[in-house]
Amino acid sequence: MSGAEVSSLSPLPGAASSSAKSLYARQTTGFDARLARTVELLRAAVAMHGAGLLQSTSLGAEDMVITDLIARHALPVAIATLDTGKLHAETLALIPAIEAKYGLKVEVFRPAAEAVIHFVRTNGEDAMYRSLALRKACCGLRKLEPLSRMLAGRSAWITGLRREQSTNRAEVPFDEDDGQGRRKLNVLAEWSWADVWHYIEQFDVPYNPLHDQFMPSIGCAPCTRAIAVGEDFRAGRWWWEESSKECGLHATNKTIGVTA
Ligand code: ADX
Ligand code: SF4
Repeated sequence: MSGAEVSSLSPLPGAASSSAKSLYARQTTGFDARLARTVELLRAAVAMHGAGLLQSTSLGAEDMVITDLIARHALPVAIATLDTGKLHAETLALIPAIEAKYGLKVEVFRPAAEAVIHFVRTNGEDAMYRSLALRKACCGLRKLEPLSRMLAGRSAWITGLRREQSTNRAEVPFDEDDGQGRRKLNVLAEWSWADVWHYIEQFDVPYNPLHDQFMPSIGCAPCTRAIAVGEDFRAGRWWWEESSKECGLHATNKTIGVTA
């Protein structure tokens, strides 16, 4: 599919939940080729980076597909997540679920406790709603600082970024410079949302039940809501902002959103 197409999702009007698999899974032309390319990219990444390679998982649908591929193809890739301290319980529950199903350890990186306490004391628990600067500061200490520890000593990280997710991500390449001297490998760049769910259905991949409540893109609880009929894929992230809806993890994808 064209990288420029951005998905607009259509949940059933008035429905509180519905199986994401039944709503979105669809086998479309070229799926097998896209899947084969992703496996090829993962194998090449292992050959190129060895122990320098890491999957950065948000535990969202795309990342669960990648983890399943890592396990299914017995690829020696470390898996890590950033627990911001603001994730939904449903999201965190996937960490032991991955460990139980695949026997793979998920390394968890958390923000510095003192920095969080100081920020909350100074700005309150709901600072992110008051200004873009405060929201970015929260993302900075809860995501970016632990991200830098997570990536220390690594030469490449695997993400679940897809071109279809937003106009901001429409040109995401398979392999890019992350601006910090590492490669960022977006192995699902060309996958559609239907592909992701087709894979999850076909291989019985565990997933966040919040996806069944019309949350296609899931981040921290205070900054994620369900989307309404016809809204864009990322409309439920930082929904009160006019920004480009990025938190800085993916600074090279045109903008980190601070100035949007
Ligand atoms: S975000 O920048 O808006 O939060 P998004 O939720 O779309 O990103 O996820 C895109 C990719 O960023 C994920 O596929 C994953 O590789 C990485 N990512 C996002 N959140 C996390 C997290 N909490 N821990 C680890 N990686 C993450
Ligand atoms: Fe803070 Fe929201 Fe950013 Fe999470 S997404 S780090 S809660 S501002």
